[in-house]
Amino acid sequence: MSCNNSLEPVLPEEENNDTDDEVIEGDVALIYLNQCGGCHGQDLGSFVERDWTYGNASEDVIESITDGYADNGMPAYGSALSAQQIEDLTSYILTEIDGKTKAMLEEENPDLSGLISSDDLTFRLETLTDEIPGIPWGIEQLPNGEILVTERGGGLYLVNNDKQLIEISGVPAVASQGQGGMLDVIIHPDFENNALVYLSYSRINPSNASERTTAVARGRLEGSSLMDVENIFTALPYLNSSHHYGSRLVFDNNGYLYVSVGDRGNRDAYPQELDNAHGKIHRIHDDGQIPTDNPFYNTSGAVTSIFTYGTRNPQGMTLHPDTGEIWEGEHGPQGGDEINILEAGENNGWPVISYGINYDGTTFTDLTELAGMEQPIYYWTPSIAPCGMTFVSSDFYGNWKNDLFVASLKFEYLHRLRMNGNEVVGHENLLEGIGRVRDAEMGTDGYLYVVVEGPGRLIRLVPEQ
Ligand code: HEC
Repeated sequence: MSCNNSLEPVLPEEENNDTDDEVIEGDVALIYLNQCGGCHGQDLGSFVERDWTYGNASEDVIESITDGYADNGMPAYGSALSAQQIEDLTSYILTEIDGKTKAMLEEENPDLSGLISSDDLTFRLETLTDEIPGIPWGIEQLPNGEILVTERGGGLYLVNNDKQLIEISGVPAVASQGQGGMLDVIIHPDFENNALVYLSYSRINPSNASERTTAVARGRLEGSSLMDVENIFTALPYLNSSHHYGSRLVFDNNGYLYVSVGDRGNRDAYPQELDNAHGKIHRIHDDGQIPTDNPFYNTSGAVTSIFTYGTRNPQGMTLHPDTGEIWEGEHGPQGGDEINILEAGENNGWPVISYGINYDGTTFTDLTELAGMEQPIYYWTPSIAPCGMTFVSSDFYGNWKNDLFVASLKFEYLHRLRMNGNEVVGHENLLEGIGRVRDAEMGTDGYLYVVVEGPGRLIRLVPEQ
């Protein structure tokens, strides 16, 4: 069967509270698509030319799927799928990837030349570079038009105005494992005078190399080097887990820096407790100091940088161009990806209330609402795996103005949420099949940019005049 035909556009929330059950019984390709493709690629990309950690003999793969590697973000399917289904899935994967190369997958990418018509706009894609090695994660445009791109494996690159890719030296060391690595990048609001660049990354515990956490470093960009790099934020405690780091960075209009931190795969211990930094959005000053008017600044035992809590894995965050509010996007488990508007001190409910279920098909809560916990502005079931997001704030894109654009890892498209104020009034999927979209950013030049994987490409969306 064809994989993509079964991927319907995202449904409005009322219609889809019961979409989860049929996947367990279905055809093996559909099981792959719904249960595995979000993390391993709809095209099985993560298995093609894989350097297998646990072996690729049938019995090794069966064991990996059955028992999972919970600490590293691979769920166990032994109770959700039957032994027969796991065996079928194994032979499906091994057969599909037999003889395939990454180069072949790249060729299967759709032709990106030519004009693209959307509901409200005709545009074309301009590839600034397709040479970003590895997995590009965050992008940020400098006032002079050059664009910084992080590469999850640990690199920071500058794409200059001649479309050359220049590696920046002096970046902090990262724990490049699982979902960790070099993550987001932003510049200081006064970059033109201070040249400060901020990086979020997974930091290795200096006193225990098997532990890591989400951290933020800043340094001055001088030519192709980052100078005077200092770490200004560390989400404590360090943990022996390599997933759900978050982590996006956003400055608001008052110069506060927001840092999103995931629950590190431990939903029960962290997000609802204020004594740790995980499953939270933090607010700090540009030098890492804690604002004294933070909501829990005077709460005994609380981590004082916390701005909101009850968050799962927030890999999207952006500033609303009109209201100046911070909007956050997070991955749900299976279903229940959310968009929230952040308000000081609020509890966004994870994992007490959720529209999602466990990856293995079991439920962990029956509650979708509870007093004292905020409802999302929008949620997706099934998940799209939302990553970076941005509002279009320039006048170049007609009716796209003030709409929210969300990168989808799972479905490999850019999801447009048509907005009327804070209300979602429509949807559109753009760039379908382009590859896993990691970030979407409104540039300082007024253009909308995305970065995608496989190959690592930085792309500008250019409206047809
Ligand atoms: C939430 C993300 C996620 C989902 C969903 C997921 N995996 Fe994984 N999987 C991972 C990660 C991360 C690893 C690497 C774990 C490690 O290195 O310890 C992995 C590892 C594996 C491995 C071992 C690969 C090796 O190098 O030896 C196999 C096989 C595998 N997954 C199959 C599946 C199948 C089949 C499904 C669906 C039934 C699935 N995975 C669903 C994240 C996921």
